[in-house]
Amino acid sequence: MSDITGLGFSVGLASGALVTAAVHYLYSHAKGSAPAPNSVPQGPVAVSTPSAEAAIARLEKQFTISSSQLHAIVKSFSNELKKGLQADNQMFLQIPSYVSNRPKGTETGKFLALDLGGTNFRVCEISLEGRGHARTRQKKYTLTEDLKTGSGEHLFDFFAECVVNFLEEGGLDKSFATSLGFTFSFPVTQTAINEGALCFWNKGFSCDGVVGHDVVRLLQDALKRKGANITVKALVNDTVGTLVSHAYSDPQTYLGIILGTGTNAAYVEKVSNLTKWKGETPNGEMIMNTEWGGFNDPAVLPITSFDHSLDRASSNPGIQVFEKLISGMYLGEIVRYTITDLISTGELFRGASSEELKKPYHFETAFMSRIERDHTLELADTKAVLEDLLKVPATSLEDRRLVKRICQLVGTRAARFSAAATAAIIIKINKLDGCTVAIDGSLFEHYPHFANRMRDALHEILGLSAENIVLSQARDGSGQGAALIAALA
Ligand code: GLC
Repeated sequence: MSDITGLGFSVGLASGALVTAAVHYLYSHAKGSAPAPNSVPQGPVAVSTPSAEAAIARLEKQFTISSSQLHAIVKSFSNELKKGLQADNQMFLQIPSYVSNRPKGTETGKFLALDLGGTNFRVCEISLEGRGHARTRQKKYTLTEDLKTGSGEHLFDFFAECVVNFLEEGGLDKSFATSLGFTFSFPVTQTAINEGALCFWNKGFSCDGVVGHDVVRLLQDALKRKGANITVKALVNDTVGTLVSHAYSDPQTYLGIILGTGTNAAYVEKVSNLTKWKGETPNGEMIMNTEWGGFNDPAVLPITSFDHSLDRASSNPGIQVFEKLISGMYLGEIVRYTITDLISTGELFRGASSEELKKPYHFETAFMSRIERDHTLELADTKAVLEDLLKVPATSLEDRRLVKRICQLVGTRAARFSAAATAAIIIKINKLDGCTVAIDGSLFEHYPHFANRMRDALHEILGLSAENIVLSQARDGSGQGAALIAALA
């Protein structure tokens, strides 16, 4: 357990704005020239021998998403978004978040937030200072495989223990009475702002005794067992938290997207369109958690044999198909399947593999980032990843170029799918004349060219209107969002 920020870390609202400016800068320099499908800023890597060229041509055909394919995805996606608003058990769960008010920026107070994402668990103390400013003290706790796959009670006891530990480190006794917002980044059917049952696990979690149960109750009971005097006021999906926290400083925020270990989006919908829900909200709006990772229309999604292999071997076959094409948990694994296939045909590493490469999920998405960022003539860092970390006996420059091209194809496809999904929502809510999309997650933040590739694809889909859309980096917004929602509740 390590304190990653120390006390008094203040939320990076200003730095989010800087990243937006950078994205704008890069975009405005690309303007005027229509981007080629799957264009990458540094151009595709030259791959020379006939066998490598044949392999690349084959893979480009499978992984490249053309403009017309993007348009077809947008159409089907829009259709499914509407169906999810009208009935239950659709491709998109379209879960009402019970959050209608976006913050005004004037809210104040001190709140606790728990944030369970895909990889980490964080406890945060958020001080809302008004004028769109907030300060955060937070601590990150690592989730072991045992916690992710053991008993639900064990998992929730761990959460409660972390909260007590966090309070004590802040000089507070566990009997200190406070309110808490719980960011729980999994599909939950919400029945109130502080009540909701888990539909199913994903992102490698499989704890028993949680599916079908109210996760607020499970947390509240665990806190009680540890003697903590805390009231769980709000249950929040990370996408909803990201949207709300960004809206605290930018009221034009209508979408919150996560592009990290998993992927999903929330957006502001009119309650009059939400015909499956019987209720009303003070302003006629509702923030919807789409659970877009569930999109799975085989008529428009060109799924490769590598994607199928990944899905079949996953803990949730046939589920979260879109998420498996896009998010950080899976991209490296798609590359691993592709590389393994080229080894079996003798097109890579002269047919030689390694034990590491045979292990599922051992080709991390972070390796793809390193490889895509490697601009050395000899692709030295790619060599280090393949030979030192993955123990491939020996690689030629040509092998490394081929691996780099595979990473570009898989990474670009993910960005283009993300853009199609984003465009579908923007069109659905009639915001082509301008809105801000708050995006959090390691893929968007750290994967080279991801934001640019999304921009290119948005331009292909929306034409000049793409210039009205701000893709804004929202760092660690989900915890702050949960605190704000607890404040609004
Ligand atoms: C998964 C979850 C979703 C979450 C997303 C990003 O798709 O189902 O609720 O928002 O991951 O963390």
